Amino acid sequence: MSAEKLTITLKTIYGLEEVLAEELAELGFKKTKVLNRAVQIEGSLRDVYFLNLHVRCAISVLVEIEKFRIRNEDDLYKKASRIDWTKYFTLDKTFAVKGAVFSDLFSHSQYPFLLVKDAIVDTFRDKFDDRPNVNIKTPQVVFDVYLNKDQVTVSLNTSGAPLFQRGYRQEVGIAPLNEVVAAGLLRTSGWDMKSTLVDPFCGSGTILIEAALMAAGLPPQIERNHFAFKNFENFDSELWDSILADVPKRVTGLPCRIIGSDLSADMVTKTRRNLRGLSIGRFVETNVNGFDEIDKPDETGIMISNPPYGERMGDEIDELYEEVGNWMKTKMSGFNCWILSSNFEAFKHVGLRPDRKVKVYNGDLECSFRRYSIYEGSKKGKYMNNQEGKENTSIENK
Ligand SMILES: C[S@@+](CC[C@H](N)C(=O)[O-])C[C@H]1O[C@@H](n2cnc3c(N)ncnc32)[C@H](O)[C@@H]1O
Repeated sequence: MSAEKLTITLKTIYGLEEVLAEELAELGFKKTKVLNRAVQIEGSLRDVYFLNLHVRCAISVLVEIEKFRIRNEDDLYKKASRIDWTKYFTLDKTFAVKGAVFSDLFSHSQYPFLLVKDAIVDTFRDKFDDRPNVNIKTPQVVFDVYLNKDQVTVSLNTSGAPLFQRGYRQEVGIAPLNEVVAAGLLRTSGWDMKSTLVDPFCGSGTILIEAALMAAGLPPQIERNHFAFKNFENFDSELWDSILADVPKRVTGLPCRIIGSDLSADMVTKTRRNLRGLSIGRFVETNVNGFDEIDKPDETGIMISNPPYGERMGDEIDELYEEVGNWMKTKMSGFNCWILSSNFEAFKHVGLRPDRKVKVYNGDLECSFRRYSIYEGSKKGKYMNNQEGKENTSIENK
């Protein structure tokens, strides 16, 4: 697949399609096709490697290998058996077949994957009288089967494990944010990477780390070693090395201040451990304190944060959100304050009118990402824009 033009599908989380398309355009891929939970482009093998390293808002990079129509279950096995699977990987590699099924042709959603798995195993047996092993949890090679009615698309998943597994996280908090969602929130907020960014409920630091990597121009996958493409027959290690060689070796600072804090010393320790492995880690400021102990670090800036959702906090959660509202109003003038939460009732206690609301999913939990723009210099906390925003884009967390 090295010389040909490849159809590359970048899978993402529901609602992140537009920000992903925007990110791809910035990375030089101007011609994008926005799909449901995915964005498609055309490119080369170099682009596939490059994107695996650099893309922030995608969960995997797929390369299409075959597209066909089927009439029934048997047809899937038959047509999948025509693919020469042995040209993609060798017997010593483990593999898995995953994907998504939107078709009435199958009553069991896992069955199509089983049929394709059988086709792969039988192809190897016919040729080598032996078969590669399946490994569902940590396969070395992953095939993606997308079944939409009678249309089947078979792709190589060149990423393998989802790209939100960045490799920088040593420590997680109780409710860590998915790294891809954090990157999506940063993009959605329109942060310019120059103004000061604050996360006063930083937990294990996902927003801070994603922000620092973005601002420093470092790839999000800089600490990740696993990429499924390394296990393919055609892996071009020189090409991969040349892409890695373009990554800045020394980062001497950040173009802005990035500040995180949390009431829990344990959480701040986790954040610091996560930051420690990164060259930009030492430039991120972290403190142990309650949100209301923060002195506004700059005249203007942005706050992006997810306070506790408060499932087990009773009335206290409403009080916390009320205090956050009062604090933003009195202490954070000049800041665009974005809050992510699934607690719609608690949101009402913020007592300020958001001027933008974005629908977000945190796992199965519906959340809202809301912007409160606090006027600079106004003690009463007037808003930069006093219109209630409509709930628009949706982002879904893992
Ligand atoms: C939902 S978690 C944040 C998760 C974080 N985004 C991450 O990726 O790990 C909320 C955090 O708020 C912190 N917290 C609770 N009350 C606080 C307060 N009054 N001031 C500051 N932090 C507080 C908790 O310790 C917890 O780490």
